[in-house]
Amino acid sequence: MSNSGETELIHMFKGIPFTTRSSPELLKSLDSFVAREDDVLLVSYPKSGTHWLAGVITKLYDTQVTLTSPIEFGDISKLEELNNLSSKRIIPTHLDYNMLPPNFKNKKCKMIYISRNPKDTAVSMYHYYRDNPNLPTIDTWTAFFDLFLKGNVVCGSWFDHFLSWEEHEDDKNILFLFYEDMKKDLPKVVKKIALFLSLNVSEKDIQDICKKSSFSEMKNDTEKENSDPSHTVCALTSNRKLIFRKGAVGDWKNHFTPKQNRRFEEIFNEKMRLSKM
Ligand code: A3P
Repeated sequence: MSNSGETELIHMFKGIPFTTRSSPELLKSLDSFVAREDDVLLVSYPKSGTHWLAGVITKLYDTQVTLTSPIEFGDISKLEELNNLSSKRIIPTHLDYNMLPPNFKNKKCKMIYISRNPKDTAVSMYHYYRDNPNLPTIDTWTAFFDLFLKGNVVCGSWFDHFLSWEEHEDDKNILFLFYEDMKKDLPKVVKKIALFLSLNVSEKDIQDICKKSSFSEMKNDTEKENSDPSHTVCALTSNRKLIFRKGAVGDWKNHFTPKQNRRFEEIFNEKMRLSKM
């Protein structure tokens, strides 16, 4: 999946490519992770709007909460670091459902899964690969398109990730959200999140949160370093400046050729034939 000399950026764990910033020891130890009943998980395939959702969720609380780095990001000391946190934990992750520490499932922790049109996700990830020194070099969009469809990118196949979570969409402790719905009517989605998290939030606060969570506000905050630039909720970088690129729906139309679009649709229809999407 990479040019020569860059293979050390990636390693495989349980058949899924991870960056070496997720140590094999940490990944192995996730099975024994001790969850807390009030943990909230923020789950996504990379480039689906994780930072946007994290920005909204943290603003919804008026009590102290800690937005951690992704559970799979770092080395073995990560588990102790999370254990030592005394405040409520909002924990991001790009893990698929099968790799999620079982204790989160047994304790029925609340989980919010955000998804995005995989065509836009692919384009966003392509730019991320190009700008991010922690990821292998990609020469062309055409080369990346093939890797994405084969699932030969970090976090593996978009289809497998989505399907592993969609199987649990009726679980009461899991809320499914779509990036496109947030773009269309953010206040409606924010209310839905507040209800799911049993938070009482006034109409005025909702409006305020939406204003502060717009693409331009969040990008500005990062540029002005009003937010910690070295804290991301993505397991692939710690540089927030790489996150806020375009924030649009339908950017895939500027990248996909008609032939690529037909191929994507064929594979989508085949892989997603049992999906409700
Ligand atoms: P683009 O690369 O298409 O611009 P993640 O947080 O999961 O890494 O996802 C990053 C994508 O979400 C990027 O997409 C980024 O621009 C977009 N994004 C981040 N904040 C946003 C916001 N407030 N509104 C809309 N899109 C946002």
